[in-house]
Amino acid sequence: MDSGNAESWFGAPPPDLTLEARLRGTDWIYSYLLGFYKDPSRPTGVNNTVFDLVAMPNVLEPLQGVQELVCAETDHPVEGQEPDALSGKYQSCNVLQVTEPGRLEPAEFEEAMYDLTNFLAYVGEPSKLQAQALAPKVLIFIFIFGVIAYLLKREYWRDIH
Ligand code: HEM
Repeated sequence: MDSGNAESWFGAPPPDLTLEARLRGTDWIYSYLLGFYKDPSRPTGVNNTVFDLVAMPNVLEPLQGVQELVCAETDHPVEGQEPDALSGKYQSCNVLQVTEPGRLEPAEFEEAMYDLTNFLAYVGEPSKLQAQALAPKVLIFIFIFGVIAYLLKREYWRDIH
C-alpha cells in the first residue's frame, strides 16, 4: 500500500510495526488489539479505548465480532462512585462487550491477540532468544576468567609486599 494513498484514505499511514512493541510496550499492544469498539461517528465506524480517534479500521472484526461500549456492572472502581452495598460492584458505561459474535469465542480471540502481541515483541528483538541462551555461558566464562585473573594478580603482587 502506497503510504501517500494510505494517508489520504485513512488520515494516517499504517505504521511500520517492527519496533512497535519496544515503542509502546506489550501491555499497550494487547489492550489496543482488544480495544476496538463500534462508533458510528468515526469514518471507519470504530474507535479504540487506548487510542482515541484511531485511524485504523477494525480489521479484526470478522474474528472478534462487533464490540460495543455498554453500561454494566464492573469490579473496577469508577471515579466518584461508591460500590453497591450488596454486590460490591460499580456501574460503568465504559464496559466493552461483544454484541455480535465473530468467528472466535471471546476467550479464543483474547488468546489469538496474546499470540499476535508476543509475535510483535519477537519481531522487535529477534536476537533476544539467542542472547538469553548465550547469557549463562557468558556468566560462566566471566566467573572462570575472574578466578584466573585473581590468581594471576596474587602471583604478580607476591614479591612486592
Ligand atoms: C493484524 C493486523 C494489524 C495489526 C496487528 C495492526 C496493529 C496496529 C497498531 C499496534 C497500531 C498502532 C500504531 C501506533 O503506535 O501508533 C496500528 C495503527 C494503524 N493501523 Fe494497523 N494493524 C493491523 C492491520 C492494519 C491494516 C490492514 C490497516 C489498513 C487497512 C491498518 C491501518 C492502520 C492505520 C492507518 C494506523 C494508524 C492509526 C492512527 O495513527 O490513528 N492496520 N495498527
